[in-house]
Formats: sequence, C-alpha cells, structure tokens
Amino acid sequence: MKILMVCLGNICRSPIAEGVMRDTALQNGLSMVVDSAGTQGYHAGEAPDPRAIACMARHGLDIAGLRARKFQSGDFQEFDVIFTMDQNNYQAVLQLARSSGDRAKVIPFLSILSKHAIDDVPDPYYGSTKDFEYVLELCTQAAQAWCLHWQAKDK
Ligand code: 4NP
Repeated sequence: MKILMVCLGNICRSPIAEGVMRDTALQNGLSMVVDSAGTQGYHAGEAPDPRAIACMARHGLDIAGLRARKFQSGDFQEFDVIFTMDQNNYQAVLQLARSSGDRAKVIPFLSILSKHAIDDVPDPYYGSTKDFEYVLELCTQAAQAWCLHWQAKDK
C-alpha cells in the first residue's frame, strides 16, 4: 500500500504524519510506502521546519532528511490513499481529482478518530513547541487507528 500525507506547505504537519505513519506501520508489521506533499510549493526542496524535526527527535523519530514537494495530479496514480491534514487541503486535493476513483482516494487523516474528536490537524506554523507536540499526538492517534483498521480488514 502506498500512502501520501498532504498539508499546505509540506514542512510541518505532513512530514510529521509521514514519519509517524512509517514508524507505526513498522511497529505493526505492515508493509507500506509513505510519502508527503504540500498543496502549495512555497517550501519545495526544503527540509522540514526545524521545530518539526526537533519535535520528532524528542520522540526518537528522524525526519531531517525529508524534502518538501508540491502535490501533483500524478500522485493520484502513484498512491492508494491520500490523507489530508485539514479541510483546506482536502478541498484543494479534491479539485485536482479527475475521476471518481481519484476522489475516493482522498481521506481526512483524522476521520478514523471518534466523531466527537477534532476534524483537522491544526496548522502549527505560527504556533509554539506545544502546537507541534499536539500535531504529533494527533498524528500518532490517527496512525495507530488506521493501522488497527487495516490489520482488522486483513483478517
Ligand atoms: P504545514 O504548515 O502546512 O503544516 O507544512 C505550513 C507551512 C508553511 C506555511 C503555512 C503552513 N506558509 O505559509 O509558508
């Protein structure tokens, strides 16, 4: 299975989601390819935000080698699931979809969490260390829930 994590800039939320999902899949014995992209290319070619790298490092995860890129329509062919971090990303990706098959691949990352939980991973770009920790916490919960979901489906 090939999974793409999408946010706006691809330097804060989606690289964290990518690192967390790769680690969670490994811990659960699931084989998957995980990548990330941004709906905008402002930061293309850049490493993740230093605050995102530091946040992940505090939890033993290394995302320093990732490089930002812009989401492209070819990603619909390349990936099986396209997880979006918030409703803006969701709409932006859907607008590039060319078929119902493309549209079916686009899923809000937090939609696996209970209906009363938060819908969006909040953008931490103008925030603090605490906001990055909250992004990591939400991504960890969602990644674990998705892995459990896929494991249950495999049985
Ligand atoms: P991300 O955060 O979408 O989680 O990577 C942002 C990164 C950059 C900007 C906004 C959000 N920006 O405006 O440059």
